[in-house]
Amino acid sequence: MFMPHEKLAIQGGKPLRDQFLPFHRPFIGEEEIAEVTAALRSGWITTGPRTKAFEEKFRQYIGSPHAVGLNSCTAGLHLSLEAAGVGEGDEVITSPITFASTANVIVHQRATPVFVDVEPGTLNINSELIEQSITPRTKAIIPVHLAGHPCDMDEITKIAQQHGLTVIEDAAHALESEYRGKKIGTISPFTAFSFYATKNITTGEGGMLTVLDDEVEEKVRILSLHGISRDAWKRYSDEGYRHWEILYAGYKYNMFDLQAAVGLHQMDRIDQFRENRKKYVTRYNEAFKEILEVEPLRTKPDVKHAHHIYPILLNLNMLTADRDQIMNAIQAENIGIGIHFRAVHLHPFYRDKFGFQPGKLPIAEDASQRILSLPLYPGMSEEDLEDVISVVKKVIAVFQK
Ligand SMILES: Cc1ncc(COP(=O)(O)O)c(C=O)c1O
Repeated sequence: MFMPHEKLAIQGGKPLRDQFLPFHRPFIGEEEIAEVTAALRSGWITTGPRTKAFEEKFRQYIGSPHAVGLNSCTAGLHLSLEAAGVGEGDEVITSPITFASTANVIVHQRATPVFVDVEPGTLNINSELIEQSITPRTKAIIPVHLAGHPCDMDEITKIAQQHGLTVIEDAAHALESEYRGKKIGTISPFTAFSFYATKNITTGEGGMLTVLDDEVEEKVRILSLHGISRDAWKRYSDEGYRHWEILYAGYKYNMFDLQAAVGLHQMDRIDQFRENRKKYVTRYNEAFKEILEVEPLRTKPDVKHAHHIYPILLNLNMLTADRDQIMNAIQAENIGIGIHFRAVHLHPFYRDKFGFQPGKLPIAEDASQRILSLPLYPGMSEEDLEDVISVVKKVIAVFQK
């Protein structure tokens, strides 16, 4: 335990923890390791039977008609825009509180990102503000389920239908999420998931795109592998050689079997991982109830939250330090921190290219200055969790007004 106003590590005091607690550490079991080894020994290491098996397992878990394995969620978002016909001069509405790639893929299609402010509490796109940003050029909406809290999909779907827009969900955080009893991945024409190293389950790098329509699935699959007409692994099967043909100038976005070997066994751990994170979120929420300087995000009724990360907002008007000073102080106590996210529209590329200025998206811009994420993963012990809480309390006590 610490004494109130004890000197912080950043001020030359002793860190609360001796060993650094990383912001995230993936859990990889013996089953994953054995499966990768088996894949390596099998002689088939690129896209093949394990990718197919992983796609099928994922598809069944989500309950979607199709699941296409890819090398990232970013690839899934990009292919969705391409398959939806989004191109030069079009506009795509999305959230400013997201990762770089949600917006970057819009630019890759030579379209213009239109950022709509987020709602307080969840920091998801504010569905009430979407309609006023729609123009004759708007083609798609990319809602981002921040931290795994689903966006207002009924409202977003309704707006999209009324205006003929395609919805592409960024579900990088939302593997286990449900909105009003429906699993994320079953609602919109396109939903992209991530298996990046820090995600709810991981394949190191990797992603999955769920698609509702049969023909769209075929197009996405072809686009994901150079735009050629057949899956590479069938090319040399015993059906005899068949020529492949280039149907589109496609991409190199396919998942391969070494990734899928990991993913196949991570799938079996989804529920246990989430239970663990949920338990930790409950403890964090309880601990921070009494610290008014710390404001956890809120959960609405009618949703199943994936609890991918645990972001908090700092009430800076009650503190003598800014977010970065507090973040550095927490890290100096040997606790890893993340930021999800600083508003995308104010990053140099977006300011320079599109002329975005501060002041237009007040909730997102305010959250950008105040947000930080605390460690949340099944590999953390309860003692680790208590250390995080103690460090937050220690740092806040010093910087309290
Ligand atoms: C909200 C969001 N969207 C998209 C991505 C991209 O995922 P990937 O790294 O699998 O491309 C991330 C990953 O960090 C993310 O957090």
